[in-house]
Amino acid sequence: MMKTPWIIVVIASIIAWRSSRPAKDFLFKRNSPQVYYAEGDANHCLLKIAPDFRFCEDAAFWDLHDATSQLTRRTVLVACDPGRKEWNTVLGPLRNSDPHGALWLLSAEDHDGAPQRLVLENYPPNHDFHPLGIAVSPSYGNTSNLFVVNHARRRTVIEQFTLSPSSSAVATHVRTLSSPYFWSANSIALTSAHSFYVSNDHLMTRRLPVLGHILPILETLLGLPLGWISHISLDSDVTASTPILEQSFAALFIPFANGVSISPSGSQLAVASTSLSRVLIYSRDVASNALSHTDTIPVPFSPDNLEYVPETNAETSTLVVAGHPHFPSLLRVKADTTTDAVSPSWVVSIVPDTREVATLFRSNGTFFSSSSTGLRDSAGALYVTGLYAESGLLICRPNSAE
Ligand SMILES: *[C@@H]1O[C@H](CO)[C@@H](O)[C@H](O)[C@H]1NC(C)=O
Ligand SMILES: *[C@@H]1O[C@H](CO)[C@@H](O)[C@H](O)[C@H]1NC(C)=O
Repeated sequence: MMKTPWIIVVIASIIAWRSSRPAKDFLFKRNSPQVYYAEGDANHCLLKIAPDFRFCEDAAFWDLHDATSQLTRRTVLVACDPGRKEWNTVLGPLRNSDPHGALWLLSAEDHDGAPQRLVLENYPPNHDFHPLGIAVSPSYGNTSNLFVVNHARRRTVIEQFTLSPSSSAVATHVRTLSSPYFWSANSIALTSAHSFYVSNDHLMTRRLPVLGHILPILETLLGLPLGWISHISLDSDVTASTPILEQSFAALFIPFANGVSISPSGSQLAVASTSLSRVLIYSRDVASNALSHTDTIPVPFSPDNLEYVPETNAETSTLVVAGHPHFPSLLRVKADTTTDAVSPSWVVSIVPDTREVATLFRSNGTFFSSSSTGLRDSAGALYVTGLYAESGLLICRPNSAE
């Protein structure tokens, strides 16, 4: 508290008031162990480390199937940007856009393997690469489409790549997508290999001249409902001169719309509303992609990304939500030029059907900092990335998976 600048106190108070959460949740760090894992002791958690494999915002499963649609291989794709402290279009600053981020691949079966950095083939020269949200279509022997939100220098775009199951360490760039429907794109959830929902976190972005220093902060602090979800359908012909066939606003007026995920059955969409510490549940019309809001579930932190656990049916569908329990710490980490500052992590599971929220993982930041995505596979392994974590991926396995 003593070292907390007054501006952060004011900011935190406003957030706390808006989200009707006890102010102490924001102002004071709640007591949190160095590491807590719900399904075993800390020895069940390992940190994946490689040069430049750090500051990873998002992760997604890439599933490969055989001719009979059986799952044959599951890998974890991770999007990282070691230059984030110089270039962050959501939290700032916008100082230096030059260093490129990268995509990484890890086996979800062999946890001892080293993370592999994907080679980006055909990537346009002189085009920045600052990956944020990623989504990849499953392979049934064919190539997969990979979409990556790219916070490029002049504007936010979505890059389309293909991934081939036979040369998995290469992502081939296909095209760059740009639209006012995703001008502050953050997270992507696929509705087919050629269509997706995309969240837009702010209407007033950091990129605005002069006011970009003030308006997005106010939008966040006041919890203004100016984020939204778009649905985008692409022409599957990658040589088409107009790549976007259809675009629509699927859900409007969401305060700080962050992570998005579609349930395995396809009938539900979950959205993290960061500034109000809530997860919004929508029912989805599978044919038209129309959404209708059905529930709002509070979480004890500012949720960042969320993902449904694969291979569950509509009743047992479970969400894994990761986020930031102490916003002032996150702001301090982003401004820190050393590797000393850390921000606590919190990952929960939510069963939307029963609204049950249970902690899966916590850390005071020293073991794992600034959790932004949690993925869980059907064997129970938990994968966590951290916006400003020095290790690219944390993997925790339950006792039973020994
Ligand atoms: C986290 O907890 C450990 C063990 O109690 C302590 O040594 C460390 O300083 C704590 N870190 C922070 C950032 O509070
Ligand atoms: C791959 O095959 C599946 C199943 O036939 C299909 O749904 C999907 O659109 C294909 N992926 C791409 C990128 O065309």
